[in-house]
Amino acid sequence: MTSPISTQKHGHVLIVTSNNPPVNALGAAVRQGLVAAIEEAEAANDVAAVVIRCEGQTFFAGADITEFGKPPVMPWLPEVVDRIENCSKPVVAAIHGTALGGGLEVALGCHYRVAVPTAKLGVPEVKLGLLPGAGGTQRLPRVAGVEKALQMTTSGTPIGAQEACDAGVVDRIIEGDLLQHAVAYATEVAQVRPLPKTSERQDKVENVDPSVFDQFIQANARTFKGFEAPMKNLEAVRVATQKPYSEGVLEERKLFMELMSGTQAKAQQYFFFAERKAAKIEGVADDVKPREIRKVGVIGAGTMGGGISMNFLSAGIPVTIVEMAQDALDRGTGVMLKNYQASAKKGRFTEAQVGEFMGRLNPTLNFDDLADCDLIIEAVFEQMEIKQEIFGRLDKIAKPGAILASNTSYLNIDEIAAATSRPQDVVGLHFFSPANVMKLLEVVRGAKTADDVLVTAMALAKKIKKVAVVAGVCYGFIGNRMLIPRQMEATKLLLEGATPAQIDKVHTDFGMPMGPFQMADLAGVDIGWHRDPTRIENIRDALCAQDRWGQKKGAGFYDYDEKRRPSPSPKVQEIIEDFRGKAGVQAREISDQEIVERTLYTMVNEGAKILEEGMAQRASDVDVVWIYGYGWPVYRGGPMHWADSEGLPKIVEGLRRQEERMGKDFSFSQLLLDKAERGEKFTGR
Ligand code: 3HC
Repeated sequence: MTSPISTQKHGHVLIVTSNNPPVNALGAAVRQGLVAAIEEAEAANDVAAVVIRCEGQTFFAGADITEFGKPPVMPWLPEVVDRIENCSKPVVAAIHGTALGGGLEVALGCHYRVAVPTAKLGVPEVKLGLLPGAGGTQRLPRVAGVEKALQMTTSGTPIGAQEACDAGVVDRIIEGDLLQHAVAYATEVAQVRPLPKTSERQDKVENVDPSVFDQFIQANARTFKGFEAPMKNLEAVRVATQKPYSEGVLEERKLFMELMSGTQAKAQQYFFFAERKAAKIEGVADDVKPREIRKVGVIGAGTMGGGISMNFLSAGIPVTIVEMAQDALDRGTGVMLKNYQASAKKGRFTEAQVGEFMGRLNPTLNFDDLADCDLIIEAVFEQMEIKQEIFGRLDKIAKPGAILASNTSYLNIDEIAAATSRPQDVVGLHFFSPANVMKLLEVVRGAKTADDVLVTAMALAKKIKKVAVVAGVCYGFIGNRMLIPRQMEATKLLLEGATPAQIDKVHTDFGMPMGPFQMADLAGVDIGWHRDPTRIENIRDALCAQDRWGQKKGAGFYDYDEKRRPSPSPKVQEIIEDFRGKAGVQAREISDQEIVERTLYTMVNEGAKILEEGMAQRASDVDVVWIYGYGWPVYRGGPMHWADSEGLPKIVEGLRRQEERMGKDFSFSQLLLDKAERGEKFTGR
């Protein structure tokens, strides 16, 4: 097998090139090739300096994640980085694309780093539940200082070339041909001695005020909550301020191994691949080309319509937004502008960009203005007759080949498509609120949706920085459908003796951003309410009748103060007790375990039904939906991965324990039972 590493002499500079598509991951062959190239440079008398560079879209994007969990193949990455640093001739890293994780660690082992202005440098290991394990936690603070290293290692967010240059991580920004300039730079520094070795630098890690670490922990407590990796990254960086490099790397290795053997790292690495797998559409040939989307139409300028439009405007795609009345249109566009300005205040955009985005918006009351749009997304009231009426009208005015999409969260796409003469062009695009922020997009594949429509939807999702998951036509698709059993059991548990606060706490302790009742209060208790205050059939009806519609009314399942801080509500307790009395239910002590089994295990069961009905393409897609759509803690890998790691027999056992209490509302997924019986898992890892 030919090595992905090749060498070529240019004058007295040895150019070492990696060609390991797609991202030049540092697999065994690359590591071996790099060491061999350094040996070659050492041995050749006519070589005075070395340049390490990569072919293709990027500099090394890190260790090869597919090797994790397999028997190690020598040399290890830390040894490779040390070998580079210990080369007796200067080594220059020439960076383009993304120098990530082990890739940045290789660059930090080099004596000099040059980068193109568009390059990004980072240590995203924390997102895989890890820390930079090839000396990165010890070298990065030595070049960039402790604060920058803390920020980079614990967030995993890469920085741009200029910021890296300002921080001392990059020595020179190269405008023009990277290789040519890197070779010139290597020639320039060829005689410099002693060679600047990052591991030997102490200036930025000595006399560091130890309170920096406590302050950093305090400032990031909310982001770190539940995660193991950020604190271990911090510990490793702290060691760099306390011990010499040779001892620091040993500590780094120990912390790395602790993380690597834990369940969080497994879940987060599983999720890395799950997210990428989600983009693949089953049953669609690879050569199906997407349709071109130059202009988007959005029907409805409410919260959803506005948020959806913002995605396209920010991505450079003009949007025509249609409303029925001028005031609603003005209100909608006003909210969009306000949201953009708020983002600009936070530094996400410049004021000029906001002007540019809003300049791409064409607000109108004239439905016919949608005629030249390539994609039209309907985001109006959730009622079948209204949607069918709109799609009937769209059918008459949309140009041939235009994609007609509905943002429905529950309704049947096939019935909507039937209102047109072109069901092959109809698809569901279910955005999550706030649609300009949430990363998830459920792409609902109707019975007749054409393959190229699906391919377009998936490609467009990537363009607007969403993660798309293909779902089948069923009530609530993947995400909302799984909410149904959870909500039903949570409400029944209230009657049986639990409080909203107890149930919510079980969920937030688990790592969810909020529990079922906090979520109901945020979304609006009145969603789907029949609006007849005299018709009180359940706790929700009673709350709505008393104007307790959730946070927006200052009262829902909880009472809220003026800062929207919740507190348990005696009134709600009264309502619950009233219902309990009427139902003749005796309150009993509900254990947290019962809450887990009836609200989380039931979700797993529903996820399994979704799979067995073919409504999700794969178990990992269900996990992607729940992590990006509802904040399921990524360190638990999504409901299906979590169920696998708990053990499916345990899930079945828990559900059996609760089966009688759940009554007719519950039925087992045969797939779950079969897998548990056969000792199988939903997800591979
Ligand atoms: N190892 C193995 N495969 C990788 C990989 C890696 N580090 N990074 C990306 N890939 C694969 C992806 O799975 C995908 O495969 P597929 O085509 O079969 O689905 C393919 O490369 C392309 O990846 P993307 O779809 O993500 O391509 P993009 O162009 O959108 O993004 C990227 C490129 C920014 C480099 C992105 O892939 C990325 O962020 N990669 C991960 C970077 C990372 O986490 N590095 C740290 C690794 S851990 C480490 O280095 C430990 C060390 O400290 C010891």
